Amino acid sequence: MTITAGTEAELAVIDGLIAEQEAALLERTPASARIMEEARGSLAGGVASSWQDAPPRAIWIDHGKGSKITDVDGTTYVDLHNGFGAMLVGHAHPAVVKAVQERVALGTHFAQPVPDLIPVAEELARRFDQPKWRYTNSGTESTLAAVNLMRVVKNRPKLIKVEGTYHGHHDAVQVSVYPDLEDCGPVESPHSVPVHRGISPEVAANTLVVPYGDVAAVRRALEANPGQVAGMIIEPMMMNIGVVTPPPNYLADLKEELQRHDVLLTFDEVKTGLTVHPGGATGLLGVTPDIVCLAKSMGGGLPCGAVGASAEVMALVEDDSYEVVGTFNGNPLTMAAAKATLLEVLTPEAHAHVEALRDRMVAGAEDVLGRYGIEGYVSAYGAKGAVTFSATRINNFRDFLAYDGRYGHVHWLFQHNGGVFLPPWGKVEQWTLSVQHTNDDVDVFLMNLETFAKALKG
Ligand SMILES: Cc1ncc(COP(=O)(O)O)c(C=O)c1O
Repeated sequence: MTITAGTEAELAVIDGLIAEQEAALLERTPASARIMEEARGSLAGGVASSWQDAPPRAIWIDHGKGSKITDVDGTTYVDLHNGFGAMLVGHAHPAVVKAVQERVALGTHFAQPVPDLIPVAEELARRFDQPKWRYTNSGTESTLAAVNLMRVVKNRPKLIKVEGTYHGHHDAVQVSVYPDLEDCGPVESPHSVPVHRGISPEVAANTLVVPYGDVAAVRRALEANPGQVAGMIIEPMMMNIGVVTPPPNYLADLKEELQRHDVLLTFDEVKTGLTVHPGGATGLLGVTPDIVCLAKSMGGGLPCGAVGASAEVMALVEDDSYEVVGTFNGNPLTMAAAKATLLEVLTPEAHAHVEALRDRMVAGAEDVLGRYGIEGYVSAYGAKGAVTFSATRINNFRDFLAYDGRYGHVHWLFQHNGGVFLPPWGKVEQWTLSVQHTNDDVDVFLMNLETFAKALKG
């Protein structure tokens, strides 16, 4: 019998494979199970961050080196999770280790500026075409600063965000992140759906929601709220529903539309910054916003973040109209790691190496999908990429809701049991390559994809 993609028959095969692969994963990770049980006694839910406990159970890690990580059961994986995309430098990169070791002996925190702040800011300015910078400690803090800054600059309360995007866990952006379809409202003017009941209705109402890729929807939101909107925050390429790229001219047209209404534009490049291109999505797509938010990969694996903006916007930080503050902002250890990351590790040759690996991933994965007749496609830029198991391209959150997440999950399980650690939440996330990955690493990924394809299609 031929089984067609997405049919009941194929989904029954998928359910069977999920059961089999989850059992295999649980069977070979007893130390993770033991530690998780112990952790539940003192850590809420047994983990430090809720998304660390992905089904079937959190895998506890012992150490990482180069392109690989080893779990507490002693299993070594090619790491394409890469700390939710933060480890573009790979694990324990010698240049980062040296920089951190040298700095740690000199004191790790003063809450006073240290000279390393300057070369890092200069390099970010060069790469992202924003003249002035401030540091934070996470992506959430970066988008928090950007949203507040837009409001202070324009002295208006409202914000526009895209349906289905994640910008961190502060209230203003905890709206319509992964809303249920029944709550979403009309596709052209989605409802503002708070993520949890701790977000007040007033806060949610100040965050207007639009579909990705639709400038007319932004225009309508602006016209319906005259003089009320301070700015729009957007992930220039959506990175929490696989990898979604903007339609032609979308970002340029968006910027123009916002400018027409005297409204600011922030790019949340927490995931795309440095990974999709040396200059992030800004560099890749050629549109420069008013504010750029960074975090993750700029810090070589230390907690980090940064906000860059035009001189006009940062003037309001300089005159204290809006204070970007934080005890650990510009922490010396983070700055030492960021300096090594930006100036020593992420050279043009290193970026080119990642691009070549990406080409191998894409060509190999497309070949497997084609040979086995699997409905899906590969979307990849720089270090980032995903196999999306959908017959049609995912262009926005509604498209994402419409296809079955079990394919992504079972693929994740096959990769995991085959020695490749992709980010969990298979339908949502994408791989991140590092400068320390090799062709051999890519080939293990491709072999596992083929094993999955064979199991599915026979
Ligand atoms: C696009 C985007 N913005 C912001 C954040 C929040 O970053 P953090 O987890 O460092 O607070 C994330 C985290 O995944 C993200 O993907």
